[in-house]
Amino acid sequence: MVTAIFPAAGSSTRMGGGVNKNLLKLAGEPILVRTLKTFSQVERIKFLIVAVAEHEVETVEKLLSATENLKSWRVTIGGSERQYSIANGLKLLPDDAEIILVHDAARPLISVQTINDVIDAVEKFGGAIAAVPAKDTIKIVGADKFVRFTPPRRELVAVQTPQGFRRDLLLRAYDKAAEENFLGTDDSSLVERLGVRIKVVTSSYENIKVTTPEDIHVAETILRDRNGKTT
Ligand code: CTP
Ligand code: MG
Repeated sequence: MVTAIFPAAGSSTRMGGGVNKNLLKLAGEPILVRTLKTFSQVERIKFLIVAVAEHEVETVEKLLSATENLKSWRVTIGGSERQYSIANGLKLLPDDAEIILVHDAARPLISVQTINDVIDAVEKFGGAIAAVPAKDTIKIVGADKFVRFTPPRRELVAVQTPQGFRRDLLLRAYDKAAEENFLGTDDSSLVERLGVRIKVVTSSYENIKVTTPEDIHVAETILRDRNGKTT
């Protein structure tokens, strides 16, 4: 079965306001709740693990207890870096979890389709990540702020979550990163260090990470469009 881990223990610095952005409401419903509800619609997912700051554990447990139609869940305490929050989540894995998905709680617009596509690719290849083709040209820039080179755009993707892995690979990757003090900006980069090939699954540009205040408006607009289509 599949277990999903949701890092939600960040400090939301770029959002401002001094509150956990994952608890802000989007069209009336907290971001974290929206994210968990979508994952709960996926048949193969049986367990959800959420990492939040220590002082929010109780609030979040109450919030999730009051939410209907969620798969079984546990809340744990996050760490000072996203990677440490996920490492804490990994300690709560059920014995029968063969595939682990990691998904930023702050990506509430994820679709059931993309989640299933990532799980399918993990079953086939061992590791898979959601991504979209890079829209912008990306340049490698030196510390002196001069361009070093321009990688061809057709080879570049912007990486999102979910990122999924066979349990043994992800646990080995996290052990190795801890031993070697490696801090990555995503989970795949830890697994890549084992020499494992990671499959890229094409996702949607709508799967934004709510990061700055204007992202709230963008996300609400996307939700409104979606609702307009289904009613
Ligand atoms: N996250 C976490 N633990 C951390 C840092 C981040 O669980 N120590 C989570 C965030 O809560 C978020 C996800 O990882 O759901 C992606 O991180 P990001 O969007 O960077 O959120 P924050 O770190 O909270 O925001 P900022 O970088 O602006 O402070
Ligand atoms: Mg951050």
